[in-house]
Order: sequence, then C-alpha cells, then structure tokens
Amino acid sequence: MYKIPASTLFLGKNLVFVPECHSTNTLALQLCQNSGPVEGTLVITPNQTAGRGQRGNGWEAEPGKNFTFSLILKPGTLAIKDQFYLNIFTSLALRDYLADKKFTAVRVKWPNDLYVGSKKVCGILVESQISGNKFSHVVVGIGLNVNQQTFGTDTATSLSVLTGKEFDLQTELETLLTFVEARYLQLREGKLNLLMEDYLNVLYGLNKSLTFDVGGVIAEGMIAGVDESGRLRVLMGEKEHVFGVKEVGYKVG
Ligand code: BTN
Repeated sequence: MYKIPASTLFLGKNLVFVPECHSTNTLALQLCQNSGPVEGTLVITPNQTAGRGQRGNGWEAEPGKNFTFSLILKPGTLAIKDQFYLNIFTSLALRDYLADKKFTAVRVKWPNDLYVGSKKVCGILVESQISGNKFSHVVVGIGLNVNQQTFGTDTATSLSVLTGKEFDLQTELETLLTFVEARYLQLREGKLNLLMEDYLNVLYGLNKSLTFDVGGVIAEGMIAGVDESGRLRVLMGEKEHVFGVKEVGYKVG
C-alpha cells in the first residue's frame, strides 16, 4: 500500500493501488475508457504479472521490490505531432531523479531507457489515446528497479545493486513523482526546445561512433539526434539515416 504523496501538486493525488495486476498500463488504459480518471491518477501495484515493454517485449519485476506504475495524463496543449516529447519529459524526469541520487554516468538510451553506466535501471512505456487532433489520455508507464538483487540478464541493475543500500519505496515514490511532475509542467508550459536540448545532452551515443544492427546488417555510424517524430538520426558515412524503434539496435557500452 502507498500513501498519497504530499509533495506533488497533482501527480498521484488520485491513487489506484492494486495488490496485483497484469500490467498497470493496461489497467490505466481500461480506466481511461470507463470513467476518465482525473489527470495525474497513479495506478500502482507491487506485483505486476505480465508487464509490457517496448517493441512488444515483456517487463519482469520481482514482486514487492520495484516500481511498476502508470500515470494518467491529459496534455491538452501538446500537438499530436509532438508526441515524442512525452518520452522526452519522462526520460528526463527519471534522469533528474537518478542524478539527484548522485549516480554518475546516467544516460538515456533512445528512445527512453535509463542506464547507469552500461546497465539498464528503468524502462518507460508511453501509450496514448487520441481523439480528433488531441490526446484524450496519455498513459506513462514506469518500471524502475529499486530493491531487486538479481536479474535474468546481465545488462539490468537496480538502485540497490548500484549502491548496496535498501530503499524505502514510499519515500522514493514521493521523490520520483516530484521530478516527474516538474518535467511534465515544462511540457505543459510548451518548453519543448528546453526539453529537447536537455534530452540531447543526456542521450547515449550522441556524436560518438557506435555499431548498429539494421535488420541484421552491421554498420558503423554516429547518432546525430532525433527528428521531429522521435526517430533516431544516424550518420553512416556521408549519409544520414532515420530509424524507428523497431528498425535499429545498438548496445550501451
Ligand atoms: C521497456 O523498457 O521496454 C519499457 C518497460 C516499461 C515497464 C512499465 S512497468 C509499469 C508499466 N506497466 C507495464 O505493463 N509496462 C510499464
């Protein structure tokens, strides 16, 4: 069970706690269809049994040890064409939170994976419902590994593994939501240039040589940024290519 955060203006003030569910994103999307919950509604569970990730992947989290939650937002002023800023503001909020914890080498792997060094600590899944030319609802799902000690992959880690400490989930939830709210307010205020600038500053691999896997073809290149739809811009030789999420892979070294 979690308490309603005291330090936010509106995020988490309506708190939907379920002891177990398949996916907080799925549950949040269902809530949006039924009753249209207030902006900032937090849907949280300690035991997500069929978490969903990007590219149709799953998201596994040991029960009771981590954050698996979704936020319901209504960014009325955001144009549909700017929807990648939803990924940007959330990534930056997590980056701010991790930087506040004094982690160094916090980077965002495009589009929105949070890495500390070469290990992933957090994943984000943004899903939206559009009505006409506006967002009716946006669901921002966050999976942050907090107190879990072991993982099925050697590229994952948690706050606890990184620090050797155990974290109080209620305290961390308050802090994290405060950072999310601050970045979301920047989005709502239309500070898109600032968000993009900050995002590029923490983007892993920007202007660095990397090895890319493009549909099984291995090629050297350099990330040059993201385009207006959030596709990755990669310079390969003299030519710039743009890739969607499912079209390119690379490792964080
Ligand atoms: C990824 O890295 O692929 C994204 C993972 C997102 C996981 C979170 S956990 C809470 C929310 N509910 C889900 O089913 N997925 C997101």
